[in-house]
Amino acid sequence: MALRWGIVGLGIGRAHAQALQKVEGVELYAACDVIPEILDAFCQEFAIPHRFTDFNKMLESEVEAVSICTPHYLHAPQTIAALKAGKSVLCEKPLCITVSEADEMIATAKTAHGKAGIVFQYRTEPWAKVAKKVIEEGGTLVRGLYQAHHYRNQAYYGQGRWRGTWWGEGGGVLINQAIHDLDLMAFLVGLPQRVTARLANWGHPQVEVEDLATGVLEWATGAQLAVHISSVGLGAPIRFDVTMDRYTLVLEDGRLRLGRFQPTLSEDLQSNAEPWGKPKVQWEDLPIDKDQPHGHGEAIAAFARAVLRDEAPPTPLSEGLLSMELMNGFVLSHFTGRTVSLPVCRQEYEDLLSALKSGTVKLKRGEG
Ligand SMILES: NC(=O)c1ccc[n+]([C@@H]2O[C@H](COP(=O)([O-])OP(=O)(O)OC[C@H]3O[C@@H](n4cnc5c(N)ncnc54)[C@H](O)[C@@H]3O)[C@@H](O)[C@H]2O)c1
Repeated sequence: MALRWGIVGLGIGRAHAQALQKVEGVELYAACDVIPEILDAFCQEFAIPHRFTDFNKMLESEVEAVSICTPHYLHAPQTIAALKAGKSVLCEKPLCITVSEADEMIATAKTAHGKAGIVFQYRTEPWAKVAKKVIEEGGTLVRGLYQAHHYRNQAYYGQGRWRGTWWGEGGGVLINQAIHDLDLMAFLVGLPQRVTARLANWGHPQVEVEDLATGVLEWATGAQLAVHISSVGLGAPIRFDVTMDRYTLVLEDGRLRLGRFQPTLSEDLQSNAEPWGKPKVQWEDLPIDKDQPHGHGEAIAAFARAVLRDEAPPTPLSEGLLSMELMNGFVLSHFTGRTVSLPVCRQEYEDLLSALKSGTVKLKRGEG
């Protein structure tokens, strides 16, 4: 008998239906949206037999796994409710809005009957897998520079009431678009010990959240990584340039260029007797197998296959906490004006978010 799948939130929920349609052993069993016209059209298009405008009613049905594709503020309560109802859950990014919510979701998943995963499709990219391997081989992290621009205009924010708000989206470019970048960084180099950041709203006066963010991540070893994110910049590709003790790696637009040091930086810094000497760098463009299945659809299909085979999800829910620590760390650092240690203080972030939601604390244009 096929695995009965339900989808809640029928915007990007469409991409879930398209991906799941192709997974043998999955039946598109139920769909849920609060807007009946969207629900009806969706169920007709994908021949889905059970339709709900109330998520809790969908959980009472015989559905066995659900995709959570609703606005950010619903991810935590809907994921927790579904896990408590014994369902497997695939939650869209971001995991939720605050690290406290993330803790509760992860704790619920630990004792749940169903499997729990999150959609972070950058991790499925062939270049990400190669970069991960190379970074692991490269030795201690030394430094890095990450930039990503995800241009979004005011019409984008006008699409939904929840967008561009602290209550609904939980932030701006950092929690929505760049959550993929924060996840990729955490996946590739792990979490830092401290975050210092500045945010701004440069070009979206109608929304209350950030469209520019610049931060410094610091490790206990002294390693530093500078991060620059925006939804107002354009024309520069996603670029991650990272140096380890043995290698330096440049990831740009899905291409990887590796430089191997001879000898390692730590050896050369200490033992090179030539005052202007430096290690040799041997450059190579790394081959990437672009034919491997990858992208958003593959992230969804891989989770479904894991549920069907009773295997661990490729990106478990707990991995979603990493980018939440970074995102909440950026926001807390900006509004407190200080360096924030990770893990982020849960209560402090809840208090700040309450103040942002109520408007007693605001992100000002420019002078923050
Ligand atoms: N992985 C990716 O690349 C990717 C891409 C797009 C969106 N997303 C994520 O997917 C989620 C949804 O984004 P979107 O762009 O589809 O948003 P959207 O606003 O276009 O769609 C959300 C849908 O949820 C419905 N909804 C709202 N409240 C509901 C409730 N209580 N019960 C049932 N349905 C409800 C709305 O009516 C709407 O149809 C977000 O978390 C977003 O970050 C991920």
